[in-house]
Amino acid sequence: MPATGAKPPGAPDEAAAAQAVRQMFDSIAPRYDLLNHVLSANVDRLWWWRAARRFHQVLARPDAAVLDICCGTGDMTMALLKHRPEDSRPILAADFARAMLSRGVRKFGAQARCIECPAGRKTQMPYATPLEADALHLPLRDASLDLIVSAFGFRNLANYEAGLREFLRVLKPGGQLGILEFSEPGGFIGKAYALYFRRVLPAIGRVICGKQGPYNYLPTSVGNFPPPAELLALMRGAGYANCAWQPYTFGIAGLYTAARPTVP
Ligand SMILES: C[S@@+](CC[C@H](N)C(=O)[O-])C[C@H]1O[C@@H](n2cnc3c(N)ncnc32)[C@H](O)[C@@H]1O
Repeated sequence: MPATGAKPPGAPDEAAAAQAVRQMFDSIAPRYDLLNHVLSANVDRLWWWRAARRFHQVLARPDAAVLDICCGTGDMTMALLKHRPEDSRPILAADFARAMLSRGVRKFGAQARCIECPAGRKTQMPYATPLEADALHLPLRDASLDLIVSAFGFRNLANYEAGLREFLRVLKPGGQLGILEFSEPGGFIGKAYALYFRRVLPAIGRVICGKQGPYNYLPTSVGNFPPPAELLALMRGAGYANCAWQPYTFGIAGLYTAARPTVP
């Protein structure tokens, strides 16, 4: 059966799934960054950096309206900010788990400062504005964004098609979408990685985090997530153009890219 959205254990419907996901991320927020870096041996930094670099052209435009949806503790936002010029429009960094978002603000909000230039002119360092919001119901106008990026958040949405439709609604014609997500590589690498992902990772997660559920949920949610060909078909079906997937690190992760067509 094709995947429709995240299904945390014990969640009978989409509303319950979203609530379970939010509570889970709120509960692991204090340990999230540490665990992320330990479990990925810091490769996650490379993935955020590569994804941000892919959108350099649009990020370099000071007036570009950019949303990092499911921003969590803000590392993708920080990678995007590196491509923003001084005095540019702030990035919108949105998440529905307040404990995750408040940690993010400490990183990307701290960038909101003026620096004095030698000539006495004041310039604003690039920064992001936090937004507590559900990806499936964005409090944003139709056709208002040039770029939406989501890193490791899309897989957790309760309804993937609804998420894609909502992103399309708020993108301007020609606006771009980037979804960075895990996938399951094939071959020998895939077998070795599956062992790590399904056995070792939950055990380390349990020790550092002191909880069993979230790091059992991670491999399960990746296993239930549509493979690249299926997600690309879902994107095309939702109305996107130029849909593509670029594998990262043997296909352990990858970047989906697409655009809202300029002509409806
Ligand atoms: C695995 S974390 C990723 C955080 C960050 N982007 C990163 O790369 O580290 C997934 C995030 O997605 C958020 N999320 C999941 N479903 C969401 C939804 N429907 N609306 C907003 N945020 C959501 C969670 O609260 C969590 O902070």
